[in-house]
Amino acid sequence: MRPLTRAVLDHPVHSLDFVKVTESAALAASRWMGRGERDAADAAAVEKMREALGEMEITGRIVIGEGERDEAPMLYIGEEVGSGGEPVDIAVDPVEGTNLVANGLPNAIAVMAIAQRGGLLHAPDTYMKKLAVGSKAAPYVHIDAPVRENLEAVANALEKPMNDVCVIILDRPRHADLIREVRDAGARIRLISDGDVDACIATAIESTGIHVAMGTGGAPEGVLAAAAIKCLGGNFMGRLVPRNQQEAERAVQMGFGDLERVLEIDDLVISDDVVFCATGITDGDLVRGVRFFGNQARTHSILVHSSGTVRFIESTHRLGARPAGR
Ligand code: FBP
Repeated sequence: MRPLTRAVLDHPVHSLDFVKVTESAALAASRWMGRGERDAADAAAVEKMREALGEMEITGRIVIGEGERDEAPMLYIGEEVGSGGEPVDIAVDPVEGTNLVANGLPNAIAVMAIAQRGGLLHAPDTYMKKLAVGSKAAPYVHIDAPVRENLEAVANALEKPMNDVCVIILDRPRHADLIREVRDAGARIRLISDGDVDACIATAIESTGIHVAMGTGGAPEGVLAAAAIKCLGGNFMGRLVPRNQQEAERAVQMGFGDLERVLEIDDLVISDDVVFCATGITDGDLVRGVRFFGNQARTHSILVHSSGTVRFIESTHRLGARPAGR
């Protein structure tokens, strides 16, 4: 597999171009915060993200986006984006946590990952069972191990008593058994209403105080989280969980012969050359949300490279003008 040139992967100008893409989406979505209209927030972010991608000097192909071509007018799977240059595959979620934006709740982000062609798994639009941890616990957990065993491994790796360990889980009826098992093991839980990309990534950033993410959420979101965690040095494992026969058949058509297969981080993010970035729409564990003041807005983003560089970027945008530099 041809590596991305350094000009794309770690060039400061290109890096800022990546951030501008998620900044544009976050700025657009943030206008819809708390207005109860998740689709409108998403549509605004999609439009701006697509415009910003169009200006990047890449030959980009959307591999994870807003859905299949017939379901999505923009950023559909297979759509070509960019003004020409290095061939890359792109995974996007212009609003990760549409309900969070609609309800003005924390942890909504605009997200993108870029890798060389063929470098990101084309995940079917189904569910995925997920396990994510940071770098210290990375070698000691497995998605097939019992919950208690994984939590003991994390507590040992982090040299923490079990009741310091914090597990983040989507608050869904399907997680009732998981929640009980975590409580029985003695760990603490943060239940979230949405946004498991942010939740998984938080495990790989020590200052968040979140040590493990467990449970079942969207499979495309799994690839995005895995891209960030691969750069940050933690571990992510998944297994597809089709919700019905149609999803199972679609997954098989897409080449997932064995639906029981454990997807390791290198299966989800095949490339070793990856860039991930996210901009906060609402305030969150990773990044702050968009702030408006006067005729300006401030955005906060995280940009991580597989080279190991982690950047937090704060930008001020003059409103009425295009985001700075564009
Ligand atoms: P959207 O941004 O598409 O609304 O997804 C939010 C989300 O919470 C994801 O973070 C998560 O993976 C998925 O939905 C969980 O799906 P469900 O709401 O069906 O449990």
